[in-house]
Amino acid sequence: MQKRKLTLLVFLFAAVFANAQGRVSIKSPDQLMSLTVKNDIGGNITYEVAYKTKTVVAPSSLGFSFKEPALQVTSFDILSIDSTVVDKSWEPVWGETKLIRDNYKQLVLRLASHTKDRILLNIFFRAYNDGIAFRYEFPEQKGLMHFIIGDELTGFAMTGDHQSFWIPGDYDTNEYSYNHTSISRINAMVGDEAKEINVRSLFDSNAVQTPLMMKTAEGIYINIHEAALSNYPAMNLVLDKKKFNFNARLVPDAVGNKAYLQTPAKTPWRTILISDNAATLLASKMVLNCNEPSKISNTSFVKPQKFVGVWWEMHVGKSSWDYSGGQVGSQQQSKVPHGANTANVKRYIDFASSNGFDGVLVEGWNTGWEDWFGKWKEDVFDFLTPYPDYDLEALTAYAKQKNVRIIMHHETSGSVTNYERYMDRAYALMKSHNMNSVKSGYVGRIIPRGEHHDGQWMVKHYERVAKTTGENGIMVDMHEPVRPTGMHRTYPNWLACEAARGNEFNAWSVGNPPDHETILPFTRLIGGPMDYTPGIFRIKMSYYNPGKKEQIHTTLCKQLALYVTMYSPLQMAADLPENYEQKPDAFQFIKDVAVDWDDTKILAAEPGDYIYIARKEKGKANWFVGGITDENSREFVLKTDFLEKGTSYLAKVYRDAPDADWKTNPEAYVIEKFIVDNRTAMKLRLAPGGGFAVSLMPATKADISSTPKYRNK
Ligand code: NOJ
Ligand code: CA
Repeated sequence: MQKRKLTLLVFLFAAVFANAQGRVSIKSPDQLMSLTVKNDIGGNITYEVAYKTKTVVAPSSLGFSFKEPALQVTSFDILSIDSTVVDKSWEPVWGETKLIRDNYKQLVLRLASHTKDRILLNIFFRAYNDGIAFRYEFPEQKGLMHFIIGDELTGFAMTGDHQSFWIPGDYDTNEYSYNHTSISRINAMVGDEAKEINVRSLFDSNAVQTPLMMKTAEGIYINIHEAALSNYPAMNLVLDKKKFNFNARLVPDAVGNKAYLQTPAKTPWRTILISDNAATLLASKMVLNCNEPSKISNTSFVKPQKFVGVWWEMHVGKSSWDYSGGQVGSQQQSKVPHGANTANVKRYIDFASSNGFDGVLVEGWNTGWEDWFGKWKEDVFDFLTPYPDYDLEALTAYAKQKNVRIIMHHETSGSVTNYERYMDRAYALMKSHNMNSVKSGYVGRIIPRGEHHDGQWMVKHYERVAKTTGENGIMVDMHEPVRPTGMHRTYPNWLACEAARGNEFNAWSVGNPPDHETILPFTRLIGGPMDYTPGIFRIKMSYYNPGKKEQIHTTLCKQLALYVTMYSPLQMAADLPENYEQKPDAFQFIKDVAVDWDDTKILAAEPGDYIYIARKEKGKANWFVGGITDENSREFVLKTDFLEKGTSYLAKVYRDAPDADWKTNPEAYVIEKFIVDNRTAMKLRLAPGGGFAVSLMPATKADISSTPKYRNK
């Protein structure tokens, strides 16, 4: 059956090309998505995409301009075409579902350029039920060995002035809050409002980053991103406003080149998720499917985990990273104690141990912090030498005794040359001290000077770190890296990244607007899990310093909901132990919530407005539900029809109090318990900037006799 289709396709192509009107199409397995590639008389190749008969991507360009050899590689002869259907499933080491189906139709065009020395280029196109992906491949060939990409000429032509959720195109940072405008109103030259971001490299007022989320007037959701970013720079998109066309713009290196390649070479996949249902788009696994299977042969050490840390106390200005307690970036002026001292770390270890957390992150344990911020200095940290008040040996023994692991912290301050010199010794130190997770960071301008966070050189560095840590049995969480593109499939020890504006911005800047967390899953998280650091209970920073106006832009219950709505196998309980100890009833949800899942149901979602998700704990019968809203209050009816039929569950509901509001009364919450089953429809109200969290566990006899049954209203 499959074979016959294939022959037909090749035949079709041959007939079409006889009169030089070369068009060839493939459809997704469900037939709803179609991709057409056209080879015009001049040899240009374009692609276009339709979904349920509507054009979603108008004819868009493909090709390259090379710097060396200096060539425009934009017109081609087609040498051959073939097509295949793939339908297989695989089990991720960790994830949102137990099994992932990878089902698509693939079309491969083998091309030869019209340049004097013919250049061979293959383009792989895939039509999935939930989107389109394509990548370029330069096969091994006599006429081309080493070459430099000047520009990738891929276009994404939109069909109208769609609503868009975007952050400015930037070569170094993704820590902006999102803009929600029509495409024609994109203006990426942000001014002072983003000055809290340490290194910014804006380059064009029409440039945006991916994942770029859009919605058409007809209600079609479109998300443009990339998958399997390896040995290549990240892609920004520059808008041609007259036509609603986005054009790829690769991040340059220190001398303005884009990528140094040697055949055989391939680019990342260009991905376009498409659906008329926002929940379907959120559930897509296409980006992951475009990545290669694990290159880490033994992944038995990889474990999703929850952790606490000597961390938030520095962000709120209670203690300091550096030993002298003086400066730590921009957070405070007056002297405060050094946070990473032995006694304080023991306190966190005790807290983690008695509340069932796996790890304790300790930042500021090592020498160098006096000098780390904003200096573009090469030799800052050695990643080996603790401050005098940090007893590494004693803490290693103490953590072991308490069955908790210390999480290492490697802030590079952007001096990557220096980090690379120390990596082996730094990982050896970790291993000899029973540590198997590291949080790394790249705050500051990159060294080698002139390189950018998102250029090819750094992309290679992040992958080198993922690989080296993986080979050393270490899990890694990167802050300030390039935006993820699903590479955690290939390196499952690469648990999470920040690579966006995290919760910490709420502590010391204008913060994250209340719709921020309803946008992130549609944008940044399309590429992979985020270390967002949820769970802040003390919402207003005036608690620490009466003069402070900063605050978290959510209610407390929304902080709980984020453990479910913001997917990550690595979740921090980010607030201070003493703040949790004052609210043990609400803290219970953070203790209970899982970090690895057998199943995920996106119940409802709309970017910028709300997200409701239910997830089933890996290997257990428990479910957890999270719901969040933007600045508007909402009501949601939680239908628990995903629960096992005929089983009673104890539902613990953590919801905003009736008078809660992210701005005026953010910490007010109500906790209720009910017996529910798969016919329950629970009405829940979310406060402005609020949310709810629900845990559902099979009820015991004692639960059933002591807890009211939820009555549907
Ligand atoms: C920025 C990171 O995002 C944050 O989590 C960390 O505490 C500081 N850098 C210091 O490394
Ligand atoms: Ca950061």
